[in-house]
Amino acid sequence: MASASQTSVQLHEHVFEPFLTPEMIQERVTQLGQELAFRMAGGEPTFLIMLKGAFVFAADLIRASRLNGEIGFVRTQSYRGTETTGKIRMHLAPEPALVTGKDVILIEDIVDSGYTMQAFLPKLEELNPNSITLVTLLHKPEAQQVDVKIDLAGFVIPPKFVVGYGLDYDGIGRQLPGIYQIAENF
Ligand code: IMP
Ligand code: MG
Repeated sequence: MASASQTSVQLHEHVFEPFLTPEMIQERVTQLGQELAFRMAGGEPTFLIMLKGAFVFAADLIRASRLNGEIGFVRTQSYRGTETTGKIRMHLAPEPALVTGKDVILIEDIVDSGYTMQAFLPKLEELNPNSITLVTLLHKPEAQQVDVKIDLAGFVIPPKFVVGYGLDYDGIGRQLPGIYQIAENF
């Protein structure tokens, strides 16, 4: 229990404990990359990265897949806890030329309630991709409120808040090489 990746971290008022080590993440991301390469069978997909949280995962996944393909970015924000839950605001929309007729690999950090994907996937389908493969690093099925078709998930985790490897808690923690889970109920 000596290395830096195995000690708790404090972010704002909360303590987070080590949950997935960098080694565990890299091993799983390598498998996901190989699985994607197999499914795409040498094709040239478009990698669509959901900002901000998925940027670290996407960088590793895309390199692990060794697939040639263009890269696009999407940024959404979900409205929560109001009647508009289930709607998203699109801060950065996908470029149609990267989606129409393409095999799109949509890369997400985490599917929690599922509202973001429930709202975003129909918008992506409006651009007529040839196919959509949704890959999420983390999935919290017990937190999910709506059905989302996930094609590949890295880790199925309990419904507790996590940070690191691109995921933040109120703006901080994205730089942590491992994933940390909140110590108390949140
Ligand atoms: P959903 O719409 O509830 O499925 O969640 C969508 C977004 O909420 C994710 O892409 C994350 O950006 C964020 N999110 C959900 N759970 C967590 C978490 O445990 N840690 C950090 N961000 C999270
Ligand atoms: Mg996200």
